[in-house]
Amino acid sequence: MILEGSFPLLQRCVLATSKNGRNLVFYQVDLCNKDALEQVFTSHHFDAVVHFAGLKAVGESVAKPLHYYINNVNGTLNLLEVMSSYGSKKLVFSSSATVYGQPKSVPCTEDFPLQAMNPYGRTKLFVEEIMRDLHRADPEWRTILLRYFNPVGAHPSGRIGEDPRGIPNNLMPFVQQVAVGRRSELSVFGSDYNTKDGTGVRDYIHVQDLATGHSAALFKLFTTPNIGCTVYNLGTGKGTSVLEMVAAFEKAAQMKIPLRIMDRRPGDCSEVYAATEKAEKELGWKAQNGIEEMCRDQWNWASKNPFGYRPSHADGKGSKPVRNGGLSLRVSNATAVA
Ligand code: UD1
Repeated sequence: MILEGSFPLLQRCVLATSKNGRNLVFYQVDLCNKDALEQVFTSHHFDAVVHFAGLKAVGESVAKPLHYYINNVNGTLNLLEVMSSYGSKKLVFSSSATVYGQPKSVPCTEDFPLQAMNPYGRTKLFVEEIMRDLHRADPEWRTILLRYFNPVGAHPSGRIGEDPRGIPNNLMPFVQQVAVGRRSELSVFGSDYNTKDGTGVRDYIHVQDLATGHSAALFKLFTTPNIGCTVYNLGTGKGTSVLEMVAAFEKAAQMKIPLRIMDRRPGDCSEVYAATEKAEKELGWKAQNGIEEMCRDQWNWASKNPFGYRPSHADGKGSKPVRNGGLSLRVSNATAVA
């Protein structure tokens, strides 16, 4: 791998990929910088692109919509334009179950009506529509849109996992910070939903299964000339409540997580989980891990790395940015292409 400077996440990724990792090439490029992106395409030919780069905090997207539209939508437009001009027309895109908005029923099948509830969700929806338009105009494009449900867990080595800056927005990163003593208690947002125990129900999916879902999507792109622009849910098809998830984590970590029941979080829906038949039938992919494995690996990561990739408590505040050849590294805006 060509890697200038030190960047712990990338170094750990290389170690996790055994001998194949040595062939990886990494560039840190902001998709909003089209010239820099073009430079990468002049240096390599890409048979396909997997596009994960994007901002994903719902609250922040409400406060800074332009930031989200510029980064997530403009960044993607730049990528599509550059791909198109270099004749690279196969793409897997990270979409989200957020495009189902408040679904009328569950499980959500891929043909449900789409509706975004906030600017972040709209960026995913807009990019989906752009991809559909692009394929209509130029049938040479082969694209797969993967609608992720709720990714959790970590790499089984315990060396790679989620490390949000500031206060985590999502459930499991918050739970793990309570478990390692960085937060005193978990706020449970709402206990009066019409669900099995009153708390919100989601379809949690292990990040390892999400990864194999991408391999299956890439294989599909290369083996199906008429794939067009096709959508697949990546979920387990099982709904788990907040309290069930916390109980599974408590079992994995052998500890109690202090809870406080709060009001509902604005914009949350009661219950969302995936219909998985289409991915099973057409991609030959099915999630293998349940919440027990998700919580086991989440705790393994958290207990070995209580402060994520930082050596001690800094929470991003006051900590020096990682420098790489004079550039400060910002993971959320970066894309890694291999
Ligand atoms: C959220 C985003 C969604 C995004 C996804 C990415 C919102 C409204 N939605 O989904 O657009 O695609 O993350 O992973 O932010 N919960 C608590 N306490 C907490 C945090 C969460 O009780 O501290 C509850 C929530 O109310 C919900 C469940 O846990 O019932 C899951 O929440 P979260 O992890 O934030 O995911 P989503 O809201 O499903």
